[in-house]
Amino acid sequence: MDKFAIQGGVPLRGEIPTGGAKNSALPALAACLLSEEPVTLRRIPNVRDIATMEKLLRSLGAKVDIRGGAVRVDARKLTSSEAPYELVKTMRASSLVLGPLAARMGRARVSLPGGCAIGARPINLHLSGLEQLGAVIRQEHGYIEAEAPGGLHGAYYTFDRITVTGTEDLMMAAVLAQGETVLENAAREPEVTDLAALLTKMGAKIEGAGTSTIRIQGVGRLSGAEHTIIADRIEAGTFLIAGAITGGELTVTGCVPEHLMALILKLRQAGAEVTEVGTNCLRVSAGGLKAVDVTTEEYPGFATDLQAQYMALMTQAEGISLVTETIFENRFMHALELMRMGANIRLDGRRAIVAGPSRLTGAAVIASDLRASASLVLAALVASGETVIDRVYHIDRGYEKIEDKLARVGAQIRRLK
Ligand code: EPU
Repeated sequence: MDKFAIQGGVPLRGEIPTGGAKNSALPALAACLLSEEPVTLRRIPNVRDIATMEKLLRSLGAKVDIRGGAVRVDARKLTSSEAPYELVKTMRASSLVLGPLAARMGRARVSLPGGCAIGARPINLHLSGLEQLGAVIRQEHGYIEAEAPGGLHGAYYTFDRITVTGTEDLMMAAVLAQGETVLENAAREPEVTDLAALLTKMGAKIEGAGTSTIRIQGVGRLSGAEHTIIADRIEAGTFLIAGAITGGELTVTGCVPEHLMALILKLRQAGAEVTEVGTNCLRVSAGGLKAVDVTTEEYPGFATDLQAQYMALMTQAEGISLVTETIFENRFMHALELMRMGANIRLDGRRAIVAGPSRLTGAAVIASDLRASASLVLAALVASGETVIDRVYHIDRGYEKIEDKLARVGAQIRRLK
């Protein structure tokens, strides 16, 4: 298993590029199953979760050609409607094929994802939504089976709580359903809006994506399309925090500042300077940070996917900050590892109380999930001495060549094979 060895203490300086959003690329790939014509997606990040989704599409019978950052999916002939446990267990987002398969084939059999390092993460809302659209859902042998032999029909559905992939799954099911579907309390994340943009190019009729009410008029078939995935706001946010935590001056290029407003606000309150320089670029510099509380929320609130990285930043800020996680029930694994590096953090249910600044020292630590690993990388960049992070396959799931990108702006980071 690969590890990262990081020698801390170097302020990062220069330009660091943002890739395409993993969490936009995943539903976009699943959406390709809805059409008999080829769909070309550009700016697909080369990360492990994407490779898993491509493998899943191939196992369903789709042809997937990868050329550079573009992926062409030809799902003319689908030979299976089953997402097997072997793939789903490595990536929960595999459940994104449920809606498209039920809509296109009238049948889907998808393994139930098991436990997860950050919380229970059930998919009950995807399932009750599909039931509203006319699917009959059964659970057997660890699999969910959705059947809609006569096709899906439009429905009015209100999500009990906001779910990002749940909204995406139902949107994909509804575009081929007969009649109108209204999704209330829908997720407003930019990734949902990006998926709607792709589906619209394919001929779907969708209104209100990006708001909490999405209206979809079902159509008989979808065509092929070309689409470029939006910038990864979580990767860009991680780099902004990297610039701030190391007291350097970093320009994050190719990002969408509008998608990062909640983080930018917190960084500015903490004393960092964040400025828009040119189109799609943000420059960050910092010194003498102060503690600022944060509570994770659905978009446009502060993203749970940046909570771990922000906590690493707060270990270097003067004062006491409260970090409250409201989306997932167990997303503080990184706190325990940060403490091993010298951070002063107390956990109290869904709150972490961080007292700073702490002098972090390099240590052997273990990555427990994708964003937790990013937080450990950030802490290691300011720790004195060497930090060795084990199980970096977690970071490879969602960050493309993070060690190369960070090394180019001065980080002393090596991958140990
Ligand atoms: N939930 C339910 N029932 C459901 C669905 C969700 O109770 O049927 C709960 C979840 O357990 C959680 C909350 O609702 O407590 C929100 O979960 P959501 O469904 O929004 O999460 P997700 O769609 O599974 C996506 C991202 C995550 C990100 C969350 C929250 C993708 C592929 N994944 O997950 O990204 O943390 O939204 O923004 O889009 C990551 O990239 O590291 C990552 C975990």
